[in-house]
Amino acid sequence: PYSDPITPADRPGPTAERHHRTATPKRILMCAPRYFDVTYSINPWMHPEKPSDAGSALVQWERLRDLYRELGHTVELIEPIPGLPDMVFAANGATVVDGKVLAARFRHMERTAEGPAYLAWFREQGYTEVHWPEFINEGEGDYLLAGRRLLAGTGFRTDPRSHAEAQEFFGVPVTGLSLVDPRFYHLDTALAVLSDDDIMYFPEAFSAGSQAVLRELFPDAILATEADAEVFGLNAFCDGRHVLLPSTATHLSAQLGKRGYEPIGIDLPELLKAGGGAKCCTLELRG
Ligand code: ARG
Repeated sequence: PYSDPITPADRPGPTAERHHRTATPKRILMCAPRYFDVTYSINPWMHPEKPSDAGSALVQWERLRDLYRELGHTVELIEPIPGLPDMVFAANGATVVDGKVLAARFRHMERTAEGPAYLAWFREQGYTEVHWPEFINEGEGDYLLAGRRLLAGTGFRTDPRSHAEAQEFFGVPVTGLSLVDPRFYHLDTALAVLSDDDIMYFPEAFSAGSQAVLRELFPDAILATEADAEVFGLNAFCDGRHVLLPSTATHLSAQLGKRGYEPIGIDLPELLKAGGGAKCCTLELRG
């Protein structure tokens, strides 16, 4: 007869070995920063008067693209368009759940042409369930899928009325969250999904009510410090095991390690000048 060989003393403690994290291969859409530049300012990180350089942006971005491929993910590419310097931030291009595409409608006119450009890519690829939205939404910048629930940011970019539109289109529950700190103007700068029921976030980036909602939904979440958030540590991509985030987010990396995730430092200082990081460059194609 079977007897459990593990004595209480042998039982794994609250550290990495308790968790068995498995990576899931993802399909990702990216856009090379060939025409990257900071020519306007639509968030507090952007200073057009300071120099920025598409060449270094490209080198840093290629490292991210190659890393995804090394980790076994599939990277699709959309052709960048001259005059759209922020198009590298593919996360904003749409939201894709179950093969259904909610197109993006940008808040600022400097980026409005990106919405139709990304939408055209999806049509060319043969996506048929495509919705051109009534309300402003900046794609996965403000929509993050956790399990079968969409966490939805508002406050700076995405119109709160978009949340109901997204829920109706995708048929998954949408939980609205209000952002209150202009430095963290998109949800993906203040919160990252790690697994179906695990997230990390910077509480102070959210309104008091939204903080309460997050505590209720994710009581065991990793809480980021302001220092983590300021270096864009929450603009992270997780495949269930590996977490790509800036190497400067040291407190977060330590927390992730304790939970059995494998943090991988990836730095995109040139893109940070536009207020973007690794996750911003990544649009997940689900289903
Ligand atoms: N300069 C861009 C903007 O302000 C950065 C977008 C970053 N993307 C993101 N998913 N947070 O719109």
